[in-house]
Amino acid sequence: MDFKKYIAIVPDYPKEGIVFKDISPLMNDGEAYKAATDAIVEFAKEKEIDLIVGPEARGFIIGCPVAYALGIGFAPVRKEGKLPREVVKVEYGKEYGKDVLTIHKDAIQPGQRILITDDLLATGGTIEATIKLVEELGGVVAGIAFLVELTYLDGRDKLDGYDVLTLMQY
Ligand code: PRP
Ligand code: HPA
Repeated sequence: MDFKKYIAIVPDYPKEGIVFKDISPLMNDGEAYKAATDAIVEFAKEKEIDLIVGPEARGFIIGCPVAYALGIGFAPVRKEGKLPREVVKVEYGKEYGKDVLTIHKDAIQPGQRILITDDLLATGGTIEATIKLVEELGGVVAGIAFLVELTYLDGRDKLDGYDVLTLMQY
């Protein structure tokens, strides 16, 4: 499927100079959303994944249907102050600002094989921080899957040694 047909390109959002890739038309189309989910499900089967982990908000949109299809769990990574129980946290930088990400301490059992999902790889800051959280809890990052990769921001450089799937590249 030509997934790029379902990505809306929005200049100067959320700031001047950023050309935003909006995945919401893809999610809006049942066939395209299913095809993208199925591609990630196949990748997850190859990697023998035990649990999916995704950063808010769009990591949930990608990861949850994959978890459902495989009959496995999903653990949310959220911005600081959003998870109610004991967390581990990490500060990170991204294409347009700084933030803190957290995960519940009991979300991952040591040795579990984890697939990290998100909509888009830009600078890689969000995913690098998510990897740190997973590994701090003893999870094994067995794969990382995105719909979109912005190759001009070199996020892949931060993911050396990890198995990365991206369905579209710009
Ligand atoms: C966006 C996007 C990725 C991240 C990519 O999320 O959904 O998670 O930025 O950028 P990076 O590779 O430079 O880290 P954002 O932080 O805007 O949060 P949101 O999904 O809650 O809007
Ligand atoms: N699209 C969606 N999310 C993003 C982008 C983008 O172009 N850059 C950083 N996060």
